Amino acid sequence: MADSAFPNLLAPLTIRGCRLKNRIFSTGHMTTLVAGGAPSEDLAAYHEARAAGGAALVIVEVAVVHPTGIFTTHTIDATSDACIPGYRRVAAAVHAHGCKVFGQLFHPGREIIESLDGSTPVSYAPSAVPNERFHVMPRAMARALIEAVVAGYGSAAARLVEAGLDGVEIVASQGYLPAQFLNPRINRRDDEYGGSPENRLRFLRQAIAAVRRAVGPDIVVGMRISGDEMSHEGLAVDEVMAACVALDGDGGLDYFNIIAGSSATLAGSVHIVPPMLVENAYVAPYAAAVRARVTRPVFVAGRINQPQIAEQVLAAGQADMCGMTRAMICDPEMPAKTVAGRLDDIRACIACNQACIGHMLMGYPISCIQHPETGRERRYGRRLPAVPSRRVLVAGGGPAGMKAAAVAAERGHLVTLCEASPRLGGQALLAQLLPGRAEFGGIVTNLEHEMALAGVEIRRSCAVDAAVVRELAPDAVIVATGARPRRPPIEGGEAAHIVDAWQVLRDEVNVGASVVVADWRCDWVGLGIAEKLARAGCRVRLCVNGYMPGQTIQQYVRDNWVGILHKLGVEIIPYVRLFGADGDAVYLQHTTSGEAVICEAVDTLVLAQGHDSVAGLEQELADFAGELHLIGDCLAPRTAEEAVLEGLQVAAAL
Ligand SMILES: Cc1cc2nc3c(=O)[nH]c(=O)nc-3n(C[C@H](O)[C@H](O)[C@H](O)COP(=O)(O)O)c2cc1C
Ligand code: SF4
Repeated sequence: MADSAFPNLLAPLTIRGCRLKNRIFSTGHMTTLVAGGAPSEDLAAYHEARAAGGAALVIVEVAVVHPTGIFTTHTIDATSDACIPGYRRVAAAVHAHGCKVFGQLFHPGREIIESLDGSTPVSYAPSAVPNERFHVMPRAMARALIEAVVAGYGSAAARLVEAGLDGVEIVASQGYLPAQFLNPRINRRDDEYGGSPENRLRFLRQAIAAVRRAVGPDIVVGMRISGDEMSHEGLAVDEVMAACVALDGDGGLDYFNIIAGSSATLAGSVHIVPPMLVENAYVAPYAAAVRARVTRPVFVAGRINQPQIAEQVLAAGQADMCGMTRAMICDPEMPAKTVAGRLDDIRACIACNQACIGHMLMGYPISCIQHPETGRERRYGRRLPAVPSRRVLVAGGGPAGMKAAAVAAERGHLVTLCEASPRLGGQALLAQLLPGRAEFGGIVTNLEHEMALAGVEIRRSCAVDAAVVRELAPDAVIVATGARPRRPPIEGGEAAHIVDAWQVLRDEVNVGASVVVADWRCDWVGLGIAEKLARAGCRVRLCVNGYMPGQTIQQYVRDNWVGILHKLGVEIIPYVRLFGADGDAVYLQHTTSGEAVICEAVDTLVLAQGHDSVAGLEQELADFAGELHLIGDCLAPRTAEEAVLEGLQVAAAL
């Protein structure tokens, strides 16, 4: 039955003798599960979870081919044999589940993010043309360095193959070194590596040839490239197409893996991990255009978060393989559930970017806000049965309470969850009302489903108090009662029209034509309220107590949003704290100079000042004899990520 619903997605594909059991793969993605420049045991456990979940292919993250390419503190270094044992562990773990494994070969050129010791390294590129995003001015590569890097592709590939990998993928996407050579706006050389298209392709051709020589005829060699770098200086569609057609003709490559964007600019980098505002499968037309012109299989990725979408891409002939990376960070078992026809059980990725790329860019192991087991496989990968099974009462049906209830019930506890309001979801119900954030509501749907599968008894419109606890007589109470908007004292505020973000989101209040949004937390709320009100025709000033709006959220989400606000004419005032308001002005103070910043002609002040915990139940249950735990915002107001993680942690330990 499942097969007939997904005839394309579940069909095998053989590339150079390598049989992929279906069309779902995990694209190369940095995990920060790297130790000393080599894949760690955590990385093996991480990829094993995806392989066990039914993926046909896992592509291991970027590995640098030359010491000049080390671009973060947690990059795999394939320039020495020290990486081989780590790769071997990954290959063995993945192969045990009938899944194939390739590895990415990488040099960032001028896209250097950080060094190992905090100093700024010399970065190398075809020419000394600066990078806009990381503010790097590279040094033009000498011929000897070009030759060494080309040789490095070959020797790194040989190491991966020695470790047992089935294939390698040269990363020529997103403005990294091979793409810098291809790009006439970045490659200004006048030797045989610059100038004509033929010359600009020379580096890539030599790298592919070095890899093929090193790995022999039986190993798959692919290339990742952006169909469009979507940047003002980036490679354009026709330039990419010409390179793909020429390389296809050379015969050294076995597949083309199409993506979008460029690391070099803020606008381009949004497409490295596209946020929820970006349409599902939006890269597929670029892949289709390449597929129409080349003879090798074409892979694609980018917001393909459900098997139904992947099936459509394949059925339309846009690609041969679908990368579903965050889909499997969020639900490693997605492919197996697809095979079994358990589509409703799939926990769909909502493209929030919070714990996956958000963690990675901060140097932490990747995870998922909906599935905190990801990246923590060795600790939370298996549910240990509850011995003995106990009665557990969860007070509060937001993300924290729902995750705790689902996990505790899965382990065999008898769980009742009480939610004071008629609807489950807590603040996630509000978060999904922010412009462009409707998909955030998926977290509620997914957690509700997990609770239903686990057999949690749910009582809606039931606020927990001491009487409810007496009635249910639980062995343990988990308090997950959330938070409410923080309303700090505002000098002169009685004379002003002041509302909070929750009221605006719920459309409970009228807002005047000229608005100041006072944003303390610098997260999604200030950005979203500003957008909502600007779209409603208000003049909006977004005053942030930080150096930029969205300072505390993932940069691709922020950068995209800031662009939207710019187009809508929202005025942004950074570095200000709120202290007063009256009938028509809002008074702020510059956070470093201490001077007054006054916004005049204001009709309404909207507070986005974070939250206060709601934890009265803790005092009410002071005499409770069983176990009492607080999790999520009632413990301290933070985000859905911490709420769900703490739900998992408390329930795993009960
Ligand atoms: C945490 C993280 C790290 C990434 N690192 C890499 C990488 O090492 N190499 C690469 O080609 N793409 C990298 N990407 C991009 C992904 O391969 C993929 O193109 C992107 O996540 C979009 O696909 P998706 O919508 O299926 O997640 C990374 C993505 C994430 C989420
Ligand atoms: S953290 Fe968000 S974007 Fe990342 S995998 Fe999970 S749901 Fe998807």
